[in-house]
Parts: sequence; structure tokens; C-alpha cells
Amino acid sequence: MVEQERITIFDTTLRDGEQAAGAGLNWEEKLEIARQLERLGVDVIEAGFPASSPGNLETVQRIAREVRTPIIAGLARCVPGDIDDAWEAVQVAVKPRIHVFISSSDIHLTHQLRKSPEEVMEQAITSVERAKSYCDDVEFSPMDATRTDWDFIYRLVTEAINAGATTINIPDTVGYAIPDEFGRLIAGVFENVKNISNATISVHCHNDLGLASANSIAAVQNGARQVEVCVNGIGERAGNASLEEVVMAIHTREDLLGFTTGVDTTQIYRASRMVSDYTGFAVQPNKAIVGLNAFRHESGIHQDAMLKAPITFEIMTPQSVGVPGTALVLGRQSGSHALEARLHDLGYDVSKEDLGRVYVAFKDLADKKESVTDRDLETLMGEDRRSTGDDIYTLDHVQALSGSPAVPTATVRLIDPEGEAQTASAIGTGPVDAIYQAITQIVDVPNHLVEYRVEAVTEGLDSIADVTLRIEHEGTNYIGRGADTDIVVASARAYVDSLNRLLASKQRATSVMV
Ligand code: KIV
Ligand code: ZN
Repeated sequence: MVEQERITIFDTTLRDGEQAAGAGLNWEEKLEIARQLERLGVDVIEAGFPASSPGNLETVQRIAREVRTPIIAGLARCVPGDIDDAWEAVQVAVKPRIHVFISSSDIHLTHQLRKSPEEVMEQAITSVERAKSYCDDVEFSPMDATRTDWDFIYRLVTEAINAGATTINIPDTVGYAIPDEFGRLIAGVFENVKNISNATISVHCHNDLGLASANSIAAVQNGARQVEVCVNGIGERAGNASLEEVVMAIHTREDLLGFTTGVDTTQIYRASRMVSDYTGFAVQPNKAIVGLNAFRHESGIHQDAMLKAPITFEIMTPQSVGVPGTALVLGRQSGSHALEARLHDLGYDVSKEDLGRVYVAFKDLADKKESVTDRDLETLMGEDRRSTGDDIYTLDHVQALSGSPAVPTATVRLIDPEGEAQTASAIGTGPVDAIYQAITQIVDVPNHLVEYRVEAVTEGLDSIADVTLRIEHEGTNYIGRGADTDIVVASARAYVDSLNRLLASKQRATSVMV
């Protein structure tokens, strides 16, 4: 059998994905996502933009130290300080990479950089050389490449390779390209850059026209051998090419494309759930590969054909991307072994100690709900993860009253950082507002609620309510999540979670300044 050529999968969920408005991951979550990306088998993890903040540098460093199989890349503008910071962050990695970028289009040069093309060329060369003085593996990106004069790209890329770049990334920064056109640009790079055989060509496509994955595949068909992607397609504005779409297109159409990747596709679903859970960005039901409906067949004709032969309406199996099979549903009578086995199937390896705690929560839920589904278990695990973090405040008691006519009233009791119980009561426009007012009396940090979303995890009136919210404080958004069969309790948990994140990030900022 002919061995297929392998496409390098460069994941930028933790850098470009994290740049998406409101993503706001903390370092523990980034490290867990990086570990999942390692299990997934991506070749490169772009772990962050170290010069953007001391916290970001530290997180990239932690990932570089602990995640040992993939290449760990740090992003840098073409300025000396950024490159030094990127190296400081990634140098502990087994396989470090510095990724430098500079704008190349006339639009950016005129309105953003206010530099001439020759100045940009000079800055790119000296920056690649500086990065190369630290690290053998250097990637260079001409930002807004698809709106740049193609001849200038060829010249810039030639010089970047001469200066030592080993990967040349062609970004469609604003998601402007059309597949055929983008394919021709990549082919043009191969035809016009004489030293191109000394570098790998990469592409980085944004999804403003919904074409990011299509453009990435067109680039692969024209010679690109690295594709930059994000789990669930998150990223700046409309996001980046989605990892699951690009990888599954390569695997499913291996017959046509003739390539493979090093990705263990059965880890895709787990990665998708984790990124959605941690960022609070819901996955749309009709999202390719990982959406709730991606493998559901509603029409009678389709269902009939599926029963006869799944190949009739399924081009890949749910198992191939790790979607858990129709679950054996757990209930009140299920023991801890059954729970452990089901959690294992869902990708959670829980220690004996954790299992004890999760089992108590499971029993509590099973007393309230007739059957506990996979989605319930995933929500339960999310709640467990949040409740075992280093919380500053914990919710000890919450009670709310509402009705018509009635004045919505709430009482909450929180345990403060000194371990003292603090109680407050308030009225509001509704029970959730009353709870927020009461909690705000105890945790007195100015903020305002910019997003509040409640989702029923499963069908049925006994469903868990999963609340996602974002609060804004001094220009930064903080996510909060909370889940419970009682919507009021879930809302209180979510608000306390967001306040804990806000306070923890302020504490970290203070300790960095000291
Ligand atoms: O979209 C873009 O151009 C980028 C670069 C930094 C590669 O994210
Ligand atoms: Zn980007």
C-alpha cells in the first residue's frame, strides 16, 4: 500500500481561538485543553502570544514544560521584545517554535503600520534572524496575505526563508479569499519562490465568508502541507478553519486528496465538548462533525435507509469522531462501577478519590431525575471541575421567592475567603436579579452582566439547567458557569463562578506587579 503524505495539523485554539471576544480561559483550562490536544495528536500547539501579558507568557511556559509530544509555538510580532518573550516562554519545550508575523497588505501598511513595503521587508528579515538566533524552528506569516500584492508576497517569503524561516504561513486574515483563488495563490508561491523547497507552506484561514475550511483544503490541493485550525472553529470574529472539519475532510476524502494526518479522530468529540464547556461558546446543533444533529436522521426515508445500511446517509460514523454511542442510561440503582465505566467511555479518567465525590453528586441527581444521560454526566463533570477549583467564595445556601403578584426576593449565604459565612437578602425584578443583587452585597466588585444564557441539557422537565453568563469589569469579560436542576441555583452558581474568576485574575495581576 502507498504511504499517504501527512498534513501537519497546527492548532491555534489557545492563541487565535482564545482571542475570540469573551473566551477568557484561565491557565488551568488552557493546560487541560493543551493536554487534550496532545491526546488528539495535533502536531503543533500554538499556546499563546507571550508578549501580550505576563500571565500569557507564564501559561505558554507551563504548557511548554508539561505537554511534551507536539511542537509548542509562541506567537510574536516582528519586534525584538516580542521575540524575546516568545523564546522565554517556549524554550523549555521539547520542540519549541517561534512564530513571527507582520502585516503585508497595502491596506494594513497604509492605515495600521504606516510603513513602506521595504521597511516591512527589513523588519521581517531582522525578526526572522533574531528568532532563528534562538530557535531552529521559525515560522513566518505575512498578515493579510490574501489582500497583498502577490509579487510582494513572493519577495517577502523568499527573504524570510533566506533569513531562516522553516515554515511559511499564508494567512487569509480577514476571510476574504475564495477557494479557487486561494489555491492559485498557494500554487503561485511554489512557482515564484525559488527557495520554497527549504520551507513548509502553511495556511491560516478565517471564516468571515464561511469558507475557511474550503480554502484550507484548496491550499492543501495546491501544495500546502500545514493547516492552522481551531477546535469548533473558534477564533477572531467569525473564527478560524475548524479542526474537526479540516481533519475529517482529509480523512473522509483520502481517496480524492491522498493525504492523512496524525490526529486520533476518536478524540475529536471530547476536544469539542471541552473547548465549548471552558469557553462557554455553544456549538450550533447543525455544526459539521460535532453538532448535536450531525449524526441524527429525522426524515422517515432517511431513517429507513439508515436501518438498511448506514452508508446511505452517513459519510463517516459517529464512533470515528468519538461521539459516544447510544448510551446505556444510568439511574438511581446504578452503582459506582457503572458510573466509572460510563465516564471512562466518555473520556473521563477519574481517580478513586474523585469518583467518590462525583458519585455523591450523581446519586443526588439520580434522585431528582428519572434517568441520567451522557449529557447530564458531562454537565456533572463540568460542575465538579468548577467546584473543586481554588474558589475564593463558595455558595452555601440560596433561596428565592417569586410570583405574580409578588416582590421577587432572595437570600444567599456565601463562605468568604476567611471561611466566614456571609448572608444577604435583596429584592429584584425577578428571582435571578434578586439573587444577583444579594450576592453583589457580599462580593462588592463593580461589574455588569453582558450575557446570560440558560440551556436545558436534555429533553424533559426534569432536565438540568446549564447557565452560562459573562460579566464585564474594567473592560474585561469573565465567564461563569453553573448547572443544577433548579434554574435559580444554577444562576447563583454561575454568578459566583464568574466573580471568583474576576477576583482570581485581579489577585494574579497584583502578584505579577509586585
Ligand atoms: O489571522 C492572522 O493573520 C493571524 C496571524 C497572526 C497568523 O492570526
Ligand atoms: Zn488569525
